[in-house]
Amino acid sequence: MTVSVANPVYPVVWRDDHVELIDQTRLPQQFSVVEIRRSDDMATAIQTMIVRGAPAIGVAAAFGIYLGSREITADNRDEFLAALTEIGDKLKATRPTAVNLFWAVARMLNVARQTLGSISQIQDQLLQTAQDIAADDVRTCKAIGDHGLKVLPAAPEKLCILTHCNAGALATAGYGTALGVVRSAWTAGRLARVYADETRPRLQGAKLTTWECVQEEIPVTLIADGMAAHCMQQDLIDVVVVGADRIAANGDAANKIGTYSVALCAKAHNLPFYVAAPLSTIDFDLADGKGIPIEERHPSEIYQIGSTDICPPGVEFYNPAFDVTPAELITGIITEHGVFPPSELREKLSHHRGS
Ligand code: MRU
Repeated sequence: MTVSVANPVYPVVWRDDHVELIDQTRLPQQFSVVEIRRSDDMATAIQTMIVRGAPAIGVAAAFGIYLGSREITADNRDEFLAALTEIGDKLKATRPTAVNLFWAVARMLNVARQTLGSISQIQDQLLQTAQDIAADDVRTCKAIGDHGLKVLPAAPEKLCILTHCNAGALATAGYGTALGVVRSAWTAGRLARVYADETRPRLQGAKLTTWECVQEEIPVTLIADGMAAHCMQQDLIDVVVVGADRIAANGDAANKIGTYSVALCAKAHNLPFYVAAPLSTIDFDLADGKGIPIEERHPSEIYQIGSTDICPPGVEFYNPAFDVTPAELITGIITEHGVFPPSELREKLSHHRGS
């Protein structure tokens, strides 16, 4: 049974003295919330994908740093900062691809180092910063939605948008990046329907994107990943919008495995292919996508559906969780500062670094 909850959806929420995470491993059958009080538990929640999606991982890690700051027993500043750095290292070791994780940890550690005063003043500042990161992300996603709306094809009046994985409210602090564009298009009366790739092997499209759409009564059609080319050939799709986990300075964009295939199909069918992502997803330290670390997850994600093995013993497995779409296949990158061709990212956006 699919559950419904009140909207809007916020996957990472601070409550008095702990963090509440929507358990994304249980949707759509069960809507449940996990309480996180310790940094180690936050690291586990990120690793096991209770919380997932690049910006949401960043927000969760920021709160993880704050929770960790409360566990440190050191009473002198240097020892406190050293222990906090170790907590940051543990959080950073959870998932390698989404750069928002590293961005958020670096921002939190900088705040700790730059805050003068007592340890409790540093802790206060860390909590405030984590909350700011979360609030900024919602605003950022709304700006992405608004900018994305302006570049959607002018015709037909009501568009069919294909998306891959879940780049929605669940994957951010709220509203979403690619699904932010979808939400803005829906509100503006420009959306006919979302086509959601199921997104093997973790099925974020089937389980999470469709769930978000159903919550808001946005028309959604679920397709298996291998059907995207056929749908384009049948003129069912007008534009593709996906999220990203890390974008290199030249615009090469890592996103959920299968995104590259969708981009190739879009090119073959002359369809616009947009990547929607906040500035915190752009890694200006990487010249191109070759340097993006690609997470490999457990082979059971491939050889099992539920708890049933789907292939005979003796098979070998390869389970990269992300792929890199080359910049030349990307029509534009939709950010909170506007929409840019990949080739203009560095010139137009690198001065915002650190903001
Ligand atoms: O492995 P996941 O579920 O964390 O991967 C998520 C994605 O690939 C999303 O498309 C990406 O993080 C963008 S989220 C706004």
